[in-house]
Amino acid sequence: MKVFVTGAGGFIGGSIAAHLVHAGHTVSGLVRRPEQFAALEKLGIVPVQGDLADRETLTAQARAADATINAASSDHRGAVEALLDALEGSGKTLLHTSGSSIVGDASGGEATGRIYREDALPEPTADKAPRVAIDNLVLAAAARGVRSAVLCNTLIYGVGAVPGAASVQLPRLVSQAQKSGVMRHVGRGLNIWSNVHIDDVTELYRLALEKTPAGTFYFVESGEANFREMTTALADVMGLGAPQDWPLEAAIEEWGYEMASYGLGSNSRVRGERARVLLGWQPRRTSVTEWIRTEMPAVPVTRK
Ligand SMILES: NC(=O)c1ccc[n+]([C@@H]2O[C@H](COP(=O)([O-])OP(=O)(O)OC[C@H]3O[C@@H](n4cnc5c(N)ncnc54)[C@H](OP(=O)(O)O)[C@@H]3O)[C@@H](O)[C@H]2O)c1
Repeated sequence: MKVFVTGAGGFIGGSIAAHLVHAGHTVSGLVRRPEQFAALEKLGIVPVQGDLADRETLTAQARAADATINAASSDHRGAVEALLDALEGSGKTLLHTSGSSIVGDASGGEATGRIYREDALPEPTADKAPRVAIDNLVLAAAARGVRSAVLCNTLIYGVGAVPGAASVQLPRLVSQAQKSGVMRHVGRGLNIWSNVHIDDVTELYRLALEKTPAGTFYFVESGEANFREMTTALADVMGLGAPQDWPLEAAIEEWGYEMASYGLGSNSRVRGERARVLLGWQPRRTSVTEWIRTEMPAVPVTRK
């Protein structure tokens, strides 16, 4: 297949693109920084320079490909509208990357017993309503002749394919601790997130390209942990003392409102049955803390 991937210089998009090349697909990838071209070419990805706001580029690339994967942003509505307009009536596949903070409860580090399933999604908070609206736009495009699907990822861990690219949550915990010498979590760190390894994520995208029914929403998860468990494992491998509680206000100062309240301070507990049932997905890793303790590179890449 000829596949067009946005965010090909990033953690998720670059890893998906490299995995698809490895599986025998021909992949072009949107990147906005020419200095990343060489790294992409080394992975066998054909770089296309452009921004998500560049409607003409998105339209031309999506139409020239057999399938499109949007992995640059879960929140860029203009790009999604452009891709759906370009693909309308074609029957071609569009996989959109969302994130499970859409069910986040901004609990300030306290736990919850609530677990969400794919067929019973909650009303989003006001903060997350725009992201959910984009997901719904993608799903509704099944009725416009697009084989569309939303892959709603949880906390992704692991090492990405593109050098220098890093995931969202764990690297932020690590870099705060590297700076301050103290590992910290939001509030008491009892809040729980579902999670998944990047290698299992990329395999799921490959399977979805081949098999997804149109208009399907997937949660992408293969385990869960609370933040105290994750920061304890990180602190241990970094040779730091026990992780400490951090008031939400201080965490917001360090990580910003969205990241502190949702990415690091909320619960996001989900179960993804469809990937297993519809696509035959069999994730190989099931424990983020085991990965931290046994596989995480000694000095993780720090996010830009
Ligand atoms: N990692 C996770 O655990 C996770 C889980 C669920 C959902 N998500 C969501 O998935 C999306 C991708 O995440 P990621 O971890 O792969 O982040 P990332 O490593 O920052 O990758 C995003 C890539 O997209 C590019 N990009 C962003 N905005 C762009 C624009 N306007 N035009 C062209 N390229 C653009 C970035 O380019 P530059 O490098 O030039 O900025 C970067 O290469 C994010 O919206 C994230 O919130 C992530």
